[in-house]
Amino acid sequence: MRRGVLARLVAVGLAAAAVTTAVALFVPWLPTPASKQADRIDFVFWFVTGISIAIFALVAAVILYSVVRFRARPDDDSDGAPIHGNTTLEIVWTAVPAVLVTAVAVVSAVALAQNGHVPKKHMRVNVLAQQFAWSFSYPKYQGLTVSQLRMPIGEAVQLKMHSKDVIHSFWVPEFGQKQDLVPGIETNVVITPKRLGTYPIVCTELCGEGHALMRSEAVVMKPAAFAAWVKEQETLAAKAAQGPAGGGPGLAAFNNNGCSACHTYKPAGSTGTTGPDLDNLPADARRAGKPLVAFVHESIVDPNAYIEKGYQPNIMPSTFKSLPKAQLDALVKFLIQGQK
Ligand code: CUA
Repeated sequence: MRRGVLARLVAVGLAAAAVTTAVALFVPWLPTPASKQADRIDFVFWFVTGISIAIFALVAAVILYSVVRFRARPDDDSDGAPIHGNTTLEIVWTAVPAVLVTAVAVVSAVALAQNGHVPKKHMRVNVLAQQFAWSFSYPKYQGLTVSQLRMPIGEAVQLKMHSKDVIHSFWVPEFGQKQDLVPGIETNVVITPKRLGTYPIVCTELCGEGHALMRSEAVVMKPAAFAAWVKEQETLAAKAAQGPAGGGPGLAAFNNNGCSACHTYKPAGSTGTTGPDLDNLPADARRAGKPLVAFVHESIVDPNAYIEKGYQPNIMPSTFKSLPKAQLDALVKFLIQGQK
């Protein structure tokens, strides 16, 4: 190969590499990682992207050069010179990709193994998914149950995940990992948050009509702020247990069944907006033309019987008809006693 040809190939290749590198770097393809695990996933992405850019540049250079240099002239319809393969070239273009693919496999396997590792010092959080809500409980703090995932920065958190009904999938884009929640088995995922902030939790498995609404938030806090939040929640729970609003078992049923994720209800301190505000139940019952207690009971076990104006049917799970009677009664009592 003449030196001029090589120089032109290299020039075209560098130009192609520059354009693709700019596309890779300046388009925000991935969210900024907020966990150590996301960092490792990003590393795999960039490793593969680097290899892809190099190969694209090489192929683009050879193709562009050949298209220009060997194009057919208007008066030339002769055949090209006969060529009978090139063993060296074939060995090279087989061996190099084999090495690259193996490297990608090894780097991915290492990242996967590291992300699956549960450090000795970690906090456990139980995740329960159901149509169409998330709830998170902290065994370390007497089973404190909330609808928003809160974590102190820098500490590994192991999520042990269960589904009550169908397959859901837990995903926080900034944490990188996705994990299915499958009825009947326990799945888990480890998150070591490294950036303060509030990130969306998304269900990424089509799980029914309310799938698009099955969202929550993951909040990464400073350790001191997290400790203060835990204390505040424990005080709230203790207060609710003694308070006039039925407290104890009713509040527990409210939180454990994910009601707080979708409904605003002052006595429970919840602020969800997916379903109607539960602070105005007597007015809702009047509109439905039913006595309050019967209305509340029916709305839990047969949510589609009456749909509040501005809301859609089939969003609230119809699984609550299987709640144990004691829990159901406590829940109804809790909801009635909190009314003005
Ligand atoms: Cu749960 Cu989609």
